[in-house]
Amino acid sequence: MKSYSSLFRRKSAAQLALDAESSSLKRTLTAFDLTMLGIGAIVGTGIFVLTGEAAAGTKDALGAGPAITISFIITGLACGFAALCYAEFASMIPISGSAYTYAYASFGEIVAWIIGWDLILEYAIGNVAVAIGWAGYFKNFLNGLGLHLPANLSASTGTELVLTNGEWQPLTEALKTQLGSSWETLPHVISLMNLPAFVITFVITVMLIIGIKESARTNSFLVLIKLGLVGLFLYFGFPHFDPGENWQNFAPNGWNGIMTGAALVFFAYIGFDAVSTTAEETKNPQRDLPIGMIAALIVCTILYIAVSAVLTGMVPLNILANERPVSAALEAVGENKVAFLISLGITLTMPTVLLVMQLGQIRIFYSMSRDGLLPKKFSRVHKRFKTPAYSTIAVGLLVGFLAAFMDIGAVAELTNIGTLFAFVLVAIGVWILRVQQPERTRKFKVPAYKLICSGAILICSYLMISLPLITWLRFIIWMVVGLAIYFIYSKKHSELNDSKVPPHNKGTSVNDEIPFN
Ligand code: ALA
Repeated sequence: MKSYSSLFRRKSAAQLALDAESSSLKRTLTAFDLTMLGIGAIVGTGIFVLTGEAAAGTKDALGAGPAITISFIITGLACGFAALCYAEFASMIPISGSAYTYAYASFGEIVAWIIGWDLILEYAIGNVAVAIGWAGYFKNFLNGLGLHLPANLSASTGTELVLTNGEWQPLTEALKTQLGSSWETLPHVISLMNLPAFVITFVITVMLIIGIKESARTNSFLVLIKLGLVGLFLYFGFPHFDPGENWQNFAPNGWNGIMTGAALVFFAYIGFDAVSTTAEETKNPQRDLPIGMIAALIVCTILYIAVSAVLTGMVPLNILANERPVSAALEAVGENKVAFLISLGITLTMPTVLLVMQLGQIRIFYSMSRDGLLPKKFSRVHKRFKTPAYSTIAVGLLVGFLAAFMDIGAVAELTNIGTLFAFVLVAIGVWILRVQQPERTRKFKVPAYKLICSGAILICSYLMISLPLITWLRFIIWMVVGLAIYFIYSKKHSELNDSKVPPHNKGTSVNDEIPFN
């Protein structure tokens, strides 16, 4: 009985207060900074890479066609509801750690562990997809300079590449259709690994170890460039927008295609919840966190709808089914210089997503290790650099190796299922706490919470169901492995064990050490 109840032991309000106090971070971030931080973390591989696959479809998944615009509206709505739920939690428990910390305080250790383990899919595995997405545009940028990477080191392991128009491209069904039977005569190669994706992860890891600070100001600057790129694309793409030609078959696979597309482009919205991990650095978290997250989501939703509408309206779908659909579409309509500029811009700005997500993962590992659920090494701070070097290297190796060998679609889908699961748990959590602890102070309250929480739970669950069976299998295996680790290691080492007093909260808070603002 005792063992059963220990699964649900919670961090007390006093412990959380100590956590918050032990952080000597300055509270400098405003609602505007948070909005920019959100946009910096959100706009990346999802819109610039996955939109193409989601619209055109793959051999395993139905494409949404131009109706991908509707997919973006559905996922935007789901994320908006989830953001309100995150904001209520963040305003009740304004300390770092995101959903993991909320769960530890509210529902107990086992739920916190499940969420913490699940969030590895969002942050670390998500970053694998971002690194692969970055690599596609980086290669295109190099090609524009006349530099060519060895083909067998330029895509995930086992990808078949063909040389066409002086560029090695993955041989997709869409490319075969585009090239007709001539593809059979083109030079072929099978790739061994994606070297650029590995290298960018390595660079980000080194930056995080030595403590390069991405200041709110640098972030805002890079976000402005990112928004400029989107503007550039819309400006040069819109004159080629021809719905009469390209939107004739608006939803080629009907509702199923729209939902399969939505489940994939959900990836494009991931990152707004990373904003909630900055609670300890925000001037007025109760007010600014909800504003920052919702404002970032609104801006991104509008941009995504505009980009996907112009993209699918300017060229036929088979032009979009590749690793860099935005520049491919521009090239197809003869805007080669703009395509090159956009590849350059994406190469320079997409690393902000990598940085925020990598940092999010390190923080969660840190919190879990501080609580004893992961080995103490994960919260040890490097003497010289004053950063959690062990965690940073562990995350870097995990992300780097997977990025070198994995396929982007599979990785993005695994990230999505994990993140959607976390959103569902957070929405359920908000509802349960409203019922169980109605008197608790909430500086931000989800309006019409039953409606919003049900909306988040239902749409996110529906998106999860729209993901392929193989993704479900991978997800279930991941969670079973996580639970095994909990029962074999974490439960015994938890700082909340009776034998370990004073509980928790020893040492330095990660937020003192992590270069963030
Ligand atoms: N939303 C982020 C991206 O699309 C993860 O790259």
